[in-house]
Amino acid sequence: MEPHVPEEIKEEIKRLVDEINYHNYRYYALDSPVISDEEYDKLFRRLKELEEKYGYVLPDSPTQRVGAPPLEKFEKVRHREPMLSLDNAFSYEEVEEFDERVKRFLKTDRPIEYTVEPKYDGLAIEVTYENGLFKVASTRGDGYEGEDVTLNIKTVKSVPLRIDLEPVPEEIDIRGEVYMDIEEFERLNKERERNGEPPFANPRNAAAGSVRQLDSSITAKRRLHFVAYGLGFSKGISFKTQSEFIKWLQEAKFPTPRNFRVVKGVKELIDAIKEMESLRRDFPFEADGAVIKVNDFELQRALGIKTREPRWAIAYKFPAHQGQTRIIDIKASVGRTGVLTPYAIFEPVRIGGVTVSRSTLHNFDEIKRKDIRIGDYVIVERAGDVIPHVIGVIKEKRTGTERVFPIPSECPECGSKVRREEGEVAVRCVNINCPAQVIERIIHFASRNALNIEGLGEKNVELFYSMGLLKNLTDIFRLKKEDLLKLPRFKEKSASNIIEAIEKSKNTTLSRFIFGLGILHVGEYVAKLLAKRFRKIEDLYYVEKEKILEIKQIGEKIAESVSDFFHREENIRAIEEMKKMGLKIENPEYEGEERERKSPLLGLTFVITGRLPEERSKVEEFIESLGGRASSSVSKKTDYLIVGEDPGSKLEKAKELGVKTITYEEFKRLVDELSKR
Ligand code: IVH
Repeated sequence: MEPHVPEEIKEEIKRLVDEINYHNYRYYALDSPVISDEEYDKLFRRLKELEEKYGYVLPDSPTQRVGAPPLEKFEKVRHREPMLSLDNAFSYEEVEEFDERVKRFLKTDRPIEYTVEPKYDGLAIEVTYENGLFKVASTRGDGYEGEDVTLNIKTVKSVPLRIDLEPVPEEIDIRGEVYMDIEEFERLNKERERNGEPPFANPRNAAAGSVRQLDSSITAKRRLHFVAYGLGFSKGISFKTQSEFIKWLQEAKFPTPRNFRVVKGVKELIDAIKEMESLRRDFPFEADGAVIKVNDFELQRALGIKTREPRWAIAYKFPAHQGQTRIIDIKASVGRTGVLTPYAIFEPVRIGGVTVSRSTLHNFDEIKRKDIRIGDYVIVERAGDVIPHVIGVIKEKRTGTERVFPIPSECPECGSKVRREEGEVAVRCVNINCPAQVIERIIHFASRNALNIEGLGEKNVELFYSMGLLKNLTDIFRLKKEDLLKLPRFKEKSASNIIEAIEKSKNTTLSRFIFGLGILHVGEYVAKLLAKRFRKIEDLYYVEKEKILEIKQIGEKIAESVSDFFHREENIRAIEEMKKMGLKIENPEYEGEERERKSPLLGLTFVITGRLPEERSKVEEFIESLGGRASSSVSKKTDYLIVGEDPGSKLEKAKELGVKTITYEEFKRLVDELSKR
């Protein structure tokens, strides 16, 4: 029976939902919040409490935005109207030609009305609303069919979960771009480099990588934005022009393109493009061009589509920001996992409004491939790539005094030997007490998605380290206000803030904690997988590699790294010390017992040969749903070969290796048997 929910509770829930959604809109769409974070958190907690207590959750509740359990794969979604791409114009002449084509096609001499919008460098998304409620979100895919990223897009706070502007459209497909601000992009890349993960090349890849996550709780942690700019299929509402549509979007609380302009004729059009080009430096996001659209939808329909691009729109591409400069020096920095990353120091040069004086060279292979030497003149680009990078060397400018940068044999920070694993690009400092590594590990431990200790960022960690206050992770919990007050940078308030943040961080979750430990190859996703499988941190002490390999998504390299980490006495001692100082680790993600109950085939590998009474893929799905593994080839690791009619060569192989063979009926009986246990 449904639990009874009193009317006044329903009303309170509705009120809280509306209020929080309004504040989300103020914060994420308008960038002008009207309440403090604490007040917001209070409302949110109250809503969550009521929802949990009464099991009453409205479809547009903001609590539905935090991400959901990971998917196995993305389903496909067909777009009711194709999602088109855009033709490019690289000069004002090409914009003029576009205008002439439009007029020729429409057989008119009169000036055309156009709209001008920034071209957001992100990922195109379609969101379907039914009777005003957010239903499905999908990627563009091939234009006709994309991937279902509903759960991921729900976590993007500026996407409204409800349209409550009268008249509410029966059905409407709204297109727009999901993108990442430059600041968030840089933050994310720094974090990735600290984790030993490859950085994203540009905000577009970062946005795409964040949306195309089977685990939407990872998407939820990236600060993604949405901007609506296009209309797909609709029913029960219609618009005459792009500008009318954009106005409606604004009223319906969608973020809309910045500096949206309506112009008449090609001269005004080019002026508007120029204006956009000069304004874009101040945009918090990367705009790689301006999108020009014929404003009138009737005219758009008349112009139609040529193959994949509409005749009524074009993207004017801003020239890439490039510059020339000289490399004064090449150095290497040392990350959390000891990886040495080479970077170039330039004679400072202004590129696209930003002074560039250094850039990463990624790794030593890259230097060799591009033959980059100290003293070289190089071309540096800041295009969609906000982080500048060296495109190439101007070899004609070489004088013969340029010097090749040798791969260091010693760590530039601590002087220890470095090692290059076979088959790996990375060169590593092997001294785990190397100051650079220690500092990076502490920063990582305190970072937002780990223990989330506000105030323990790069600057303070470096300062505390140099003052001898922080020598390792456990020292964090030993910090005292008196120690901080001795430092010139700290006053009563700032010192207590940090101490309070540290206190707060002592209550954490297992996945955050594992992630924070900074184990080689263990990012957030793997940390979560581990937390699902292991109830508490102690269960990981001295864990064997094989035990970790039972987790389907984890491979040899990661399992080995985790097992190594938890076989080290000093690591376990450090964790135990933290516990003594009040660290409490909860594990809401643990699904062990439940999983075991539901997984009678756990740890067993099956292979199928021949025809079964059921479709093979169905049987394989069935096996995996019960925790087993369905493989396509027989090996020593196979536990059972299920043999159907007309078996193939797998049967021979199984006999050869001594793998047990069973019929489909025997398989069914085995499942029944194991399920009873
Ligand atoms: S309109 C036919 N407007 O650019 C209409 N697209 O190269 C096509 N984009 O797939 C989309 N900002 O991902 C439009 N203001 C904007 C845009 C924009 C960025 C992207 C979008 C599209 C691609 C086309």
